[in-house]
This record gives sequence, structure tokens and C-alpha cells, in this order.
Amino acid sequence: MLKWLDDAVFYEIYPQSFNDTNADGIGDFNGITEKLDYIRELGCNAIWINPCFASPFGDAGYDVSDYYTAAPRYGTNEDLRRVFDEAHKRNMHVFLDLVPGHTSVECEWFKKSMKAEKNEYTDRYVWTDTIWEEPQGMSSIKGISDRDGCCAVNFFSHQPALNYGFYKCTRPWHQPMDAEGPKATLEELKNIMRFWLKMGCDGFRVDMAGSLIKHDENSEGTIKLWQNVREFLDKEFPEAAMVSEWGEPDKSLRGGFHMDFLLHFGPSHYNDLFRCEEPFFSDRGKGDAFEFVEKYKETRAKAGKDGLICIPSGNHDMDRLARSIKGDNLKISFAFLLSMPGVPFIYYGDEIGMRYVEGLTSVEGGYGRTGSRSPMQWDNSVNAGFSTAPKEKLYIKQDESGDRPNAAAQMSDENSLYNEVKRLIKTRKEHSALLNRGGLEFVYAEKNTYPIAYLRTSEDEKILVVINPADREVKMPCSYTLGEKIYSCGGDISASVGEITVSPCTAVFYTIK
Ligand code: GLC
Ligand code: CA
Repeated sequence: MLKWLDDAVFYEIYPQSFNDTNADGIGDFNGITEKLDYIRELGCNAIWINPCFASPFGDAGYDVSDYYTAAPRYGTNEDLRRVFDEAHKRNMHVFLDLVPGHTSVECEWFKKSMKAEKNEYTDRYVWTDTIWEEPQGMSSIKGISDRDGCCAVNFFSHQPALNYGFYKCTRPWHQPMDAEGPKATLEELKNIMRFWLKMGCDGFRVDMAGSLIKHDENSEGTIKLWQNVREFLDKEFPEAAMVSEWGEPDKSLRGGFHMDFLLHFGPSHYNDLFRCEEPFFSDRGKGDAFEFVEKYKETRAKAGKDGLICIPSGNHDMDRLARSIKGDNLKISFAFLLSMPGVPFIYYGDEIGMRYVEGLTSVEGGYGRTGSRSPMQWDNSVNAGFSTAPKEKLYIKQDESGDRPNAAAQMSDENSLYNEVKRLIKTRKEHSALLNRGGLEFVYAEKNTYPIAYLRTSEDEKILVVINPADREVKMPCSYTLGEKIYSCGGDISASVGEITVSPCTAVFYTIK
């Protein structure tokens, strides 16, 4: 159990869109270093940087061509080391994004793996043994190699799947997890982790972590693989932490991950809250958080008391939170995100309500995700302070509306979303019950009904959180005796015998006597 995760709050940085310091229109490592104080001041004490390794950028860097070299467009390995060092000086931790499931077709390993002659990389990827047989249940690359076979892909067609083996082998070309090829792939993965951890990185967000072992219906093989990785970390880097992009904490946490995300895919009902036709957190008040809560309770019970379930404000794959949640309801959404247990993750720009930029042409394999990846809006100078490059050179077009939010303006406005998020993180850190490992008990979460209420608990305090995103007054049964109000946004609650009335669009935290 890592102590620093007790009060960690992460900030996700999409490096190409964060801060450009050399006017080429693309964010860079020095730009991250320059903004560490901004992130720290908001209250976040950890960052996750999306893939920043050499890549042809057909999937924004999730198509790695060299795991040991920083992408030149962001700077050098030394510049990245400086991000680690400067973060550590500020008591912050840094996660890199580990992409273990696939590489780019341009990776040297793949080029060698395509050769007809057997070599060190022949078994690095999942290949069938003839061009006429495709891997079942997966798409494949075929007809571009001298090697006779189809290579399975993990995501886009330029992302060949690395070979960690099959859980159930039913074809001659299926290799078991303990065959030489799969074992070598896993050792290489450990080398990559070792390389960056030695340089000062504190852990990894792991891309598609549940995808590694093929034909592994219940993920038993993949769980075993990650347990093996955890053993290696415990021995060599016991302080290293990992969060998985898996979306099934009951599995990933068994695999030795400290944290897993609830995501816009998977069984969590996360979308019911923020991203569906009638999200629970919209002020229309037509949403339903019931299924989310039921699933969350079940997952939490399975994950155990040390398993950290992370509910992100958004990420580079989802629509911006502000696409469906408007105005002060963004504050109310953050009141929820920052009062739930687990480790909070804030996607860059969500703290100022950056919008989804509509109508963009896809950039680097972003497709519909491109609108959530536009450059950060720092202030009201040229290109919102992101870059001094000519506007046409910016990595992605920015939000061009006259009232686009920016960090500087919000920092000087007491009533801004930025300051609300900052207050919430501060409140969270001042109360042990609200921290990442504090207890949780749902008090009120009924079908098609508002508000939602839960108790957060620690040894020395109990805090009642009541949240009503709906633009109408609502009531809930309640027999607690309220103590001090430690946070409120919007209106308030009033208690009479056995009942609480909650004002419209309101979030409050009260201690309980
Ligand atoms: C993950 C990443 C996504 C990427 C995909 C393939 O889902 O978050 O951005 O496209 O994996 O690596
Ligand atoms: Ca740059």
C-alpha cells in the first residue's frame, strides 16, 4: 500500500496540447515543467503524461516506434528527466503512459518480425502461420510482409499486437504464455519500465491493460501476467505505482494495479453521470445515477478496501465534460468527483470548463476525440497563451468562441470553476474522511430520483455529502444530526424531522454528529 496514493490527485496532460515553449505549435516537455506550479497550485500533486515516445503519431503516440526515446517534438530524454526532477522538487509524482499491447508498424521490432527468415523478433507479435488464416476474433495486417502470415492488430490497423501468449491454445500458431516468444516480450516490457523508473518516473498509466493475453475470456492469464510485473516492481521499484485502463477494478486490482479507472466503456455506467442523453449531473434533472451506484457498490466490494477506483473528469478519449454539463453544474460535478473515494483524475482544461471543439477534422487518429484534445487556454493573449506559433500551425484548432474560458481569468475570479475545483481539493485534503481511502456508504440513491447522498467516513469523522444537480428543490429522508457545514456550492439543505430539503443545483458537505 503506497502512502503517497492516500491523498494523490492526478492531472492528465496531453503533451501536444498543453504548453508550447518553442513556437512550433506543439506542446513540449519544457512547457510541462513551466506549468508544474500551476498544477500544484490547483491542488494536484501528480501528473499523468500521455505517450511521449518516438512515434509516427498515427494514434497520437499510442503507436510507439521506440519505447526508449522521447518523441523529439516534445524534447529529449533529458528534458523529460527534468520534468521528473522538477516535479519531485514540488512533491509531485509523474506517471508516463505505458503502451504494452501494441507498437507502431514502424517499430524496428515489427520490421524484423515481418521478415521471412527467423530472427529475434519473429515471435514478438501475434502472427498466424499462413496468410490464408486470419487470427480469430481480431483484425489483422496481411500482405505487407515477406513473412507468410497475418499479424493480429490490437486497435487501429497500424498497431500490431505484441505477443504475450494465448490463455487457451487451439491453433498451432497460438503460443502459450510461458513459451519463449511471449516470455521475451514480457521481459522487454519490464526493461522499458526499468528504464523510465530509473530515470525518475514514478509509475505508469497502462494502456489497454486488459488486452494482453489472447483468448483469455475471464482475464485469468492477463491478471497473472500483471501479477508477475508487480512482483518485479516490488523487488526493484517498490514505490512505483500503476493505474490501469481496464475499467474492471475487480480484475485489474487482483493483477496488482493500485488503481483502475471507471471509463466511458465497460460495465461501470459512468456515462449515465456525465455523458448520455440525460446525464444525472445535468440541471435538467432527468438523469438516473441508480445503476451507476449499484455497480459501483458491487465493484467496490470486490476491489476491497485498499483498491482505488478512479473516476476521471474526462480524458483524451471522451467528450469534454463541458459538452454535456453546463454552467454551475460543472462545479457540482466536481463536488461529486472530488468527494468520492479513489484517486481523482482531472483532464487538463476541465478545471476551467474547456469545451469540446465541434466540427474539427481528425488529427493524428483522433477522429471524434479530436475536439477534446484542443490546446490549453491559459490566458487571453495570442493562441490563448498556448503557443506563439502562427495560428495555422497549432497542433489542433482552438476553441474560437469569444467567451472561451482561460486559466488566468478564472484564477482571478473567486466564483470561477477553477477556484471551485481548488476549494474542493483543499477541502478534500483537510478531511481524512474525504481522502482516497476513506470509507463510503450511500445514504440516498434511488431510481430516477434526486438528490444523491453518501457518507464519507474515517476513524475520527463522518461527512455527509448531498448533491442535487437538478434545477428544482428535492427532498430525501434523513435522520442524521447535522454538524458543521464544511463545503457548499449553489444553495443549502434544511433539515426537519426525518427529512432534508435540498435547494436546486446544490452540493453540500456536512459533518455528522
Ligand atoms: C487507449 C488510449 C487511446 C488509444 C488506444 C489504443 O484506449 O486511451 O487513446 O487510441 O488505447 O492505444
Ligand atoms: Ca513545442
